[in-house]
Parts: sequence; C-alpha cells; structure tokens
Amino acid sequence: MQVDVPILAHQQVGDEIYRLTLESRSVAHLALPGQFVQVLYHDTYGPAMRRPFSIHDVDTEGGTFQIIYAARGNFTKGLSGLRPGDSLSVVGPLGQSFKLLDHPVRLHVAVAGGVGAPPLHFLLKRAVQAGLVQNLSAVIGARSARHLVVPDDFAKLAIPLHIATDDGSAGTRGTVLTVLQQMDADPAATAVYACGPEPMLKAVGAYCTGHGIACRLSLETVMPCGTGVCMGCVVKVRSNAYADGFEYVRACSDGPVFDAEEIVWD
Ligand SMILES: Cc1cc2nc3c(=O)[nH]c(=O)nc-3n(C[C@H](O)[C@H](O)[C@H](O)COP(=O)(O)OP(=O)(O)OC[C@H]3O[C@@H](n4cnc5c(N)ncnc54)[C@H](O)[C@@H]3O)c2cc1C
Ligand code: FES
Repeated sequence: MQVDVPILAHQQVGDEIYRLTLESRSVAHLALPGQFVQVLYHDTYGPAMRRPFSIHDVDTEGGTFQIIYAARGNFTKGLSGLRPGDSLSVVGPLGQSFKLLDHPVRLHVAVAGGVGAPPLHFLLKRAVQAGLVQNLSAVIGARSARHLVVPDDFAKLAIPLHIATDDGSAGTRGTVLTVLQQMDADPAATAVYACGPEPMLKAVGAYCTGHGIACRLSLETVMPCGTGVCMGCVVKVRSNAYADGFEYVRACSDGPVFDAEEIVWD
C-alpha cells in the first residue's frame, strides 16, 4: 500500500539521530514489530529510489507511527531537512515480522546495535502490552554514550536494560555480545532477537547458535524495491531443497527477519 503521510513532528534526538512522527491510520493499524516502510520524498537524491526504515512505534488510537533514523548519507541528510507539514510517500508496512517464541522460552532478550534499535523497541513494547514484562530484557549498544539510539525509549519500557559502549562511557565496556555472554542465559529457556550492523549480527548469531540459544536476526540489506520484485536484496540461506545445501531468498519479502541458523554468511 502506498500512501502520502504528513510529518507531524520531526526532532533531533541524538548525535545524527532523528525521530519522525508520521500520520497514517493504515500503517499504525497494520504494522507489526520488525516490519518496515519504504520511504521517498520530493527531492530524493539521484534515481528516485526508496529507502527502508523500520517502524519504531505506533499509536493506533492517534493513527500515527514513528521511525528513527541516522542522518549519514545523501538520502537521510535530505530527509533531516523536512519539516512538520511536509509529506513523505510511504509504501508499507512490508516484510515478515518478529514473532516471539513460545514455551519453553521464559526470557526474551532484544539486542540492538545503533539504528537497529527501532524494530526491537516496537517488539518489546508490544510484548509489554501483552503482559510479558517479567520475561523481557533489552541490550542496546553503541560506540559511546552519546551514540546510543533513543535509550530513554527503552528505559520507559520498565524492563531490565543493559547498555554496552565500546569506550565504556555508559554501561558495560564492550559490545552487546559482551553483555550477552555475561548474562549466561539458560539456552533452553532463552530466545534472542537482534538487529544492527552486519558484524554484530554475525557475532550474536554465531554465539547463540553455538550455545543452542534460539535467535532471530533482522537484516539491514540494501533494498531497491522492498516489495519482492527486483531481487536486489537476496541473502543466502541453508536449504535442503538444493544439492549444494543453500538457496537465495529475498530479504525484503522473505525477511528481513530470519532464524540465525538459516543464514549463510559468506
Ligand atoms: C529492513 C530495513 C530497515 C531499516 N531500518 C532503519 C532504521 O530504522 N533507521 C535507519 O537509520 N536505517 C535503517 N535502515 C538502513 C537505511 O535504509 C539506510 O541506512 C539508508 O537508506 C541509507 O541512507 P543514507 O542517506 O544513509 O545513504 P545513501 O547516501 O542514500 O546511500 C548510501 C549508499 O547505499 C546505496 N543504497 C542505499 N539504499 C539503497 C537502495 N534502497 N537501493 C539502492 N542503493 C541503495 C546508495 O546508492 C549509496 O551508495 C534499514 C534498512 C533495512 C533494509
Ligand atoms: S528489494 Fe527488491 S526484491 Fe527485495
């Protein structure tokens, strides 16, 4: 579904980090944690290519949703210049959502690196609303304290929150993996859900599969169309259907959420 959505609020909330609040009753009602929207604005740089952004939060009564983004490249720097009253063209919500694993899992650990935070914030918020507050834990990581992405939004969820920074300026010195290792979780009763830069996802996925912990990863692959048409987002996954033991699937429509065990990192 393609809709023009007015910008209701647009704030800088960190070092190069922005929060967009957008009006769309349909996206607010349909969106599930882990899903994303493909965004375009009037003076998009270069070829008119949409960019994917995860849904961070929804207000179903108010008919709004939020995205959080880092203004680093041409597209996002241009985006950061838009004002309330301007509109974005949005396609979505798209992609497969995060699904919380059932019994025997008693602890759901959401692990976010940098701007991988939005889908996990949405996942945790929905889980809190579903009454699972006792079974949740969040780990967020960044280079330093000032690079943490919306830590206050995670703090508001009132669940155990672990912070990791490379330089030790907040929380544990190290990465989200350092925290995960320190948690020493019971593999049979724990599930991990992660989103962030690829090296982080590889490391978290390897740790979890190596320790028998169920783990789902949301990949941030380049997505030219976002709707399953162009094949520009393929990822390699294990498959019994082929003699060589793998196949290519589309990150946008078959993912972006995959079991860590499925993914073949080359
Ligand atoms: C499912 C998903 C969810 C995401 N959620 C978030 C989020 O919540 N917050 C966030 O900050 N980021 C998110 N991202 C990443 C975000 O889409 C990119 O970082 C962003 O589009 C890059 O924009 P830029 O202005 O930084 O870089 P640009 O300058 O626009 O692009 C950098 C380079 O990447 C290439 N490129 C980037 N995107 C595309 C594309 N779609 N098609 C073709 N080439 C492309 C460009 O040609 C250029 O060479 C998500 C990505 C995915 C796949
Ligand atoms: S982005 Fe085009 S098929 Fe996935």
